[in-house]
Amino acid sequence: MKVIAHPDEAHAQISHWRNSGARIGLVPTMGALHEGHLTLAKRSKAECDYTVVTIFVNPTQFGPNEDLSRYPRTLEADLAGLRDVQVDMVFTPTPEMLYPAGFSTYVEPPASANPLEGQCRPGHFRGVTTVVMKLFQILPATIAYFGQKDYQQLTVIKRMVEDLNVPIRVEGCPTIRESDGLAMSSRNRYLDAEQRQRALSLWHALQAAKQLYESGERNVHILEQAMARELLQRGAEKIDYARVVDSQTLETIDTIDDEAVALIACFVGKTRLIDNLVLSNSDSH
Ligand code: PAJ
Repeated sequence: MKVIAHPDEAHAQISHWRNSGARIGLVPTMGALHEGHLTLAKRSKAECDYTVVTIFVNPTQFGPNEDLSRYPRTLEADLAGLRDVQVDMVFTPTPEMLYPAGFSTYVEPPASANPLEGQCRPGHFRGVTTVVMKLFQILPATIAYFGQKDYQQLTVIKRMVEDLNVPIRVEGCPTIRESDGLAMSSRNRYLDAEQRQRALSLWHALQAAKQLYESGERNVHILEQAMARELLQRGAEKIDYARVVDSQTLETIDTIDDEAVALIACFVGKTRLIDNLVLSNSDSH
């Protein structure tokens, strides 16, 4: 497994592989890897000839009062996990390499970045689209893998790739959960035992929405009220949002006609958690 920090060196390696006609899979991450990340890498391994994982805690997607400085950094354990999965390359640039002095060009995110996370974390998606675009330039892969755990991020990146004619296919992968339903997240490490229990409120709230949906309820406000009630009863502290929106555009709807998605962001202690569930007639994740 090659571990490469320098963008030019990483680009040269990928170009070499691509010139031989190989399919390259790319899995961008911020490290502190868990089974959710590793599942993306395994999917890439199964579908591509070479798999590249990036580890970069991207400063431009963190707001001034967010957890950039305390975001977990566990490089040695991450590399061990990726070696087990037999990833071919890990790209580990430094902030100075991706944002050298004088850096000043950003990718303006699409409209789907405006609601939800966009409201609560101004500038977040601008940082995400910018760094993902940079990673796509440095590492011109065939397929890039992203998790549905970050549903809005996946929606935004798919739109960006389409709008800017990026020659990379974007694949979304189902959310990997702990056995009790908690979505795996690098931020779960912040939770103590009591908070870990309260973090389950997100899962229970999504299940409440799903049950109502499956019993035939299509009124979004009733689903949203049920989610908020469940969250507060089970110990979530501050709800940033608990919404049901159009699953493609993330626009507000009153009634579910087509497919919708329930999305939640709330705090448990100082930790901000997000989760979501697609509500559709077929299978929901
Ligand atoms: P990070 O939070 O490290 O997540 C990296 C990738 O793993 C994302 O595509 C995310 O959706 C996916 N992921 C995280 N938890 C998951 C889970 N439980 N199940 C399935 N997939 C999961 O998302 C980012 O980093 C950054 O914003 C990034 C795209 C790397 C840009 O900096």
